[in-house]
Amino acid sequence: METKIFKPDQIDQAAAEIKKGNLVSFPTETVYGLGADATNVQAVEKVYQAKGRPSDNPLIVHVADISTVEKYAQPLNEKTKQLIKQFWPGPLTIILKLKPHVLSSKVTGGLKTAAFRNPDKEATLNLIRKAGVPLVGPSANTSGKPSPTLAKHVYHDLNGKIAGILDAGATDFGVESTVLDLSTNHPTILRPGAVTSQAIEKVIGPVVDEQKHVGKTEVPKAPGMKYTHYSPTASVQIVDNENQWKSVTEWAANQSGKVGILATDAILNDYNWPQNVETYSLGNDVKSASHALFAGLRNFDLHSDITDILVEGFTTEGIGEAYMNRLNKSAGQKHFE
Ligand code: TXA
Ligand code: MG
Repeated sequence: METKIFKPDQIDQAAAEIKKGNLVSFPTETVYGLGADATNVQAVEKVYQAKGRPSDNPLIVHVADISTVEKYAQPLNEKTKQLIKQFWPGPLTIILKLKPHVLSSKVTGGLKTAAFRNPDKEATLNLIRKAGVPLVGPSANTSGKPSPTLAKHVYHDLNGKIAGILDAGATDFGVESTVLDLSTNHPTILRPGAVTSQAIEKVIGPVVDEQKHVGKTEVPKAPGMKYTHYSPTASVQIVDNENQWKSVTEWAANQSGKVGILATDAILNDYNWPQNVETYSLGNDVKSASHALFAGLRNFDLHSDITDILVEGFTTEGIGEAYMNRLNKSAGQKHFE
């Protein structure tokens, strides 16, 4: 199967593929998703096959309006309504209790809950409306690889495995949505994203941060968080302090292979990089760094001679929390020393 590229003026064709039970990748404000009709079990099964994703890992249901959520979920409480009003459309995914037997266990991973998200991307909202069904949408990467922030990343991973890609250019934030579990009495952040815990707490009061509570031996509540992720083939290390970069240049010069450096312009311009170093810019702050992180890791992954990648760390404030969460997973917690 040749994977077609659809432009935003070809949404009818993309929607026709979804209605046929085929897979179409869609853009969002976070990363590209791998879309299928959430009400068609065979279509949902194809998503797991195309990604090579473990089938106990539930999928986010992407909706164009709140009434679709009300159709599947148990009556929304006041906190849920307030969060929806404040943050939708936008990068906040909420987990809600379902009515019985409304969604396939292929979507929910057998749980009694489901994750709902209203993406802030007009082309994709139109795709959902034209298809007339909600779309499941995991990130459109091969399982374990960095999430795609450009249509060409999706093409690289999934060409020949999916019917099409709706190309609306680069995504905005570059890290996946915040996942907030609202199915218990204690709202819990399962995955940090651009909607921060502080922003959520301003609307509904205290929330639990799952990252800070899960011991290493416990199974995380968001099944997806237990898998290795965002991993290029090369070894990845985090450079935590600005004053380490001088030692990085010396260390890199002693490596026999090529070294990739992912850092902001201030760092890249400040040092003389040895011959065996390739650089990739993270822009000038943590916001641009979040936008560029996955694209940068993918860029170095295409250079098979790069054996080591060193990436600038940031403090975990604002979107820095999501950035460091993804970077830590990619680096397997390895820090440059
Ligand atoms: O920004 C995003 O959220 C992107 C775009 C495409 O929308 N999607 C995305 O999907 O990141 P995915 O499948 O890569 O990540 C969804 C996460 C996984 O960690 C999954 O385990 C968790 O949400 N999840 C989904 N449904 C759940 C549920 N009912 N209970 C707990 N965790 C759930
Ligand atoms: Mg993913």
